[in-house]
This record gives sequence, C-alpha cells and structure tokens, in this order.
Amino acid sequence: MRNKVTKAILPVAGLGTRFLPATKSIPKEIMSLVDRPLIQYAIDEAREAGIKEFIFVTSRGKGALEDYFDAAPILETSLRKQNKKEMLQALKRTTMESGEIAYIRQREPLGLGHAVWCARRLMRNNEPFAVILPDDVISADTPCLKQMIDAYQEIGGNMVATMEVPASEAGSYGLLDVRGEIGKLMSVKGMVEKPAPGQEPSNMAVIGRYILTPNILKNLGQKMIGSGGEIQLTDAIAHEIEVSDNVYGYRFDGRRFDCGSKAGFLKATVAFGLAREDLRDEFGAFLRDLVASGGAAE
Ligand code: G1P
Repeated sequence: MRNKVTKAILPVAGLGTRFLPATKSIPKEIMSLVDRPLIQYAIDEAREAGIKEFIFVTSRGKGALEDYFDAAPILETSLRKQNKKEMLQALKRTTMESGEIAYIRQREPLGLGHAVWCARRLMRNNEPFAVILPDDVISADTPCLKQMIDAYQEIGGNMVATMEVPASEAGSYGLLDVRGEIGKLMSVKGMVEKPAPGQEPSNMAVIGRYILTPNILKNLGQKMIGSGGEIQLTDAIAHEIEVSDNVYGYRFDGRRFDCGSKAGFLKATVAFGLAREDLRDEFGAFLRDLVASGGAAE
C-alpha cells in the first residue's frame, strides 16, 4: 500500500497583473466564476480527492485569502437568525478547521518551482503531495485530482495532469516528451518548460495538477534557473526523470479552463453559469439573443 496523498500545496503568490485593475486590491484567486472564487474550486476538488491539509504559498497583499477561509461569526449569526440555511451551507465549504490550512510567504517572485520549495518544511520525508494551480479550473465528473490519485495508488512515482493543446499555444506550457502511452497514463522521457518555437517535444501540455515525491523538493533546492529566468517546477520534475525515471503524464477526463487568461476566465464564467440550474434558462436565453443580434455592451 502506498502512502496516501493528503497534503496539497497551492501556489497563490502571483500578482495577477493580467487582471489589473481588478487585482489591484483583491487576490486573483478570490475572483469568482458565478459566485464561487477560483480558490474554492481548487479546494473543493482537493477535498473530494481526499486532501486533508492545505498549504498556501502566498505573498504580500493576499490577506483576503486568509479571511476567506476563516470563520465569519457575525455573518453566520445573522444568517442563522434569518434561518438562511442554504447560505449557511455555502459558507460551510469556505471555512477550514484550525490546523487544516497553513500559509507560507514566498518573499520574492522567483518562479513556480521556488513557490513549491517554500513549503518544504511542512512536508514529511517519505510523503507524496499534490500541487494545485488554481488558475486551471477543471470541470469533470470525477475531479481531476481524484482521477490522478487513484492512478497514483496503482503506479506511484510522480504524476502530472496533461492534455493536448493546439500547436500555436504549446509554447505557453510545460510540455511532455512522451515515450509511450497505456490507457490514460503516459510514460515520460523528458519535460521542458515553455520551449522556443520549433523545440516542442509534443503538444502534450502540463496542466496545473501534480502528485509529487519529496525528491522534487530536493531538486528544487538546487535552485536551477530555467525558463523566464525563474526556478521552474517542470525542471525539477524533468531532473527526476533522469535520476529515477518515474514520471508519468495523466490524460485526465474533463474540461480545463485557463482562468489565468481573460478569455479563459470568460469562457469558464459562461460554462459554469450555464451549468447552474438557477441561472440556466435566463442566462441561456440571453446568450442566444446576444449572439443572434451580435450585440455587445459598450
Ligand atoms: C505553469 C507551469 C507550466 C504549466 C502551466 C499550466 O505555467 O509552469 O508548466 O503548463 O502552469 O497552467 P504558468 O501558466 O504559471 O506560466
């Protein structure tokens, strides 16, 4: 029996500059698809996959995230008085028990790999852990991380979520050099972060869900500088391929939205809006009319 994956690192230190001015005073991760912040999607997915402890790697200006996961006694008392059960239920998913969540500061923006490394002291030596990038919102019947943890229980090693992306976009991702494929699992012989045009090993992109062994934290400790002058998680995983050859891609079932981009965020808003029973009819009719009339708001 393998060690259970019960801890997740959530890197949330980014400045969110692509969403300025919205992100001037609120963390990007609090921005909402309909009425659920991006970070809530990540936490819900993780909980359904059996994650019990959450480590947030934050930076200055992310205080609203800590408040979001805290108890809100005044709000709760007021809702209880008004007997607003549904709202109380919705709030319940947002609160964390003391000790269930930890916050670590990344003092300098040195890259995703560095952010993950910042959490190293909270991990145990033999324990696998998950990394979730909240910008990647994945809608799936079985949550993506759960699909991966189930596969991990069979095969172990290091695992990254992957999907095929159009050739024109491949250079914006970590890409897999695939050796072979059995079912949803890919054996990986190399990985490269945002390669230059013409250097792409494949169109199989790394998506923001990882299950990693503690060795990755050791590799990150070497502070190798990679793409964009930053310490890259992809490089630390690629190193593990050379040393242990135990890295797999997992072609997940589900639909991924790139909520780190404006267009992706809008697509997700529309898709999740249409998925809501209470909004579907009105919103769907509005969209049909809008498309038919070609109308846009000024
Ligand atoms: C990060 C990773 C990259 C991965 C991507 C998925 O890049 O470094 O390997 O493909 O997330 O969303 P970022 O989007 O933060 O530049």
